[in-house]
This record gives sequence, C-alpha cells and structure tokens, in this order.
Amino acid sequence: MSNKTVNYIKQHITPYQPQTLIILGSGLGNLGEHLQEPISLNYQDIPDFPHSTVQGHSGKLICGRLGEHEVLCMQGRFHLYEGHKPSTIHQLFAWFKELGIKELIVTNAAGSLNPEIAPGSLMLIKDHINLSGQNPLIGPNDDSIGPRFPALNNAYDEEIRARVKHLAQKHDIALSEGVYMMVLGPNFETPAEIRAFRILGADAVGMSTVPEVISAIHVGMKVLGISVITNYGAGMSSEQPSHEETLAQGQKASNQLSRLIIAYLKEKNNG
Ligand code: HPA
Repeated sequence: MSNKTVNYIKQHITPYQPQTLIILGSGLGNLGEHLQEPISLNYQDIPDFPHSTVQGHSGKLICGRLGEHEVLCMQGRFHLYEGHKPSTIHQLFAWFKELGIKELIVTNAAGSLNPEIAPGSLMLIKDHINLSGQNPLIGPNDDSIGPRFPALNNAYDEEIRARVKHLAQKHDIALSEGVYMMVLGPNFETPAEIRAFRILGADAVGMSTVPEVISAIHVGMKVLGISVITNYGAGMSSEQPSHEETLAQGQKASNQLSRLIIAYLKEKNNG
C-alpha cells in the first residue's frame, strides 16, 4: 500500500476531510464547476496515480464544498479499455478508504436498451450485470481491506435510491431506474449484442462503473450510481452511437445530474 499517494493527497487537500467521492463520467465534468473553494490536483502530479487518456476526461482530483458538504471529485476515470489493469481501480479505492471516503457517487454515460428510457435523461442504477469478463478483485485478497468474496445484493444502496427518487420528483428531474450492463469496449455494440443484452435484463450499457462499484463495496463504501443516457443502443434507432454524440448529450443532461447530486448532498447534510 502506497502511503505516499494518500499522504500527498491528504497534504494537498488540507483542511478538507471529504467523506464522499464523486466520479464524473464522459462529458459530465460540469459538477466540478459547482465546487466552492476548490483545490485541484492533476493526476500526473500525484505519486503512483494512474493517468487517464480518453478525450473529454481531464484527469484531475478536485476537492471542495458543495453547499456544506466536502467532496472529492474524480474528473476523468480509468477505463479498462484504455489498458488499465482492473487491480489499478481497486488500488484507488484502497487509497480512498484510507483517506476517509465512506460513500461513492458514481456517474457515467450509457446507451439505452429500453425504449422507455430516452437519450438526454437520467437513470438511477439499481443493479448491474458485469459482462466485462474482468474483475478488480482478481489477485491475492488483503483481508484488512475487505472480504475475499464480497456480496453485491445491495451494492446500489436501496435506502439511498429511495431518497434520490424522492428528490428527483421534488425537483422535477426526470429519473428512471434500471440495470446497468458493463462491457469492455471500446467499440460500441453490434445490434445483435444490443438485442441480447435486452433479453439478459439490462436497461443501459456502458464501459465503466462496475469495477469502481465492486471495489467500493469491497472496501466498505456505500454507493449511489447514476447513468446519463446519451443514445439508444445500436440498432434501436436510425442513428449510430458515437463518442461525439455521447459527449454532446452528456453535456446537455449534466445540469440535471448536478442539480440532483447537489440536492442529495444538501438533504444528507440536513438529515
Ligand atoms: N454503448 C456502450 N457505452 C456507451 C454507449 C453505448 O451505446 N453510450 C455511451 N456509452
């Protein structure tokens, strides 16, 4: 375990002691702009921290306040399709646990598999299907960090989901709820794959989030996951999915996403 990394982050974000980590997905960096009194660390300056390579992800750790709440934001995440090892993602969560993070709010851009969940809207993740063939826990287990065989029955915490659904209604934010499927990428799916995933019971598909959620649960964090639906899955509409469209739709919906997360944190502080 590299204390160098944790010490560097701790020293540089002083006096903050955030307990909430927010991961911002492709084109969803907008929330970072709402942070008050931000302190920003470039990934490349943090000892042993991996670097992010994908367009639309700047690669920064930003600490600051959203209302009364102190948060740490990852602007830019590590996708397995970039060549990062799944265990690298787990390493991050071991560091974040040591930093004192207790809750993960994870966001992503995803394609819809469900005709009733339209592009431009938000989907609360209630469960996932890991079709990536990868797992961040592969390798020897450190029992002092988490169990060898963690259960994922309530990975996307039910109580938190109930609160978020209530808040979405109160603030007039369209929010559906569904199952997120992770594929490795980086290609978008074939129409046949999209048909197959629908039969398997998924409502949205994307190339991230699952390794982070498994890692977060393993180290004992609570998880809230929200997908921004950027397109219909391949073959479901006349358009082809593209990264540009993902970023454009993500940007459009990111205001709603920021409003929802800010409302959630505000209520949490008051409750
Ligand atoms: N498939 C996979 N990942 C995605 C998609 C998609 O259609 N849209 C945004 N991320």
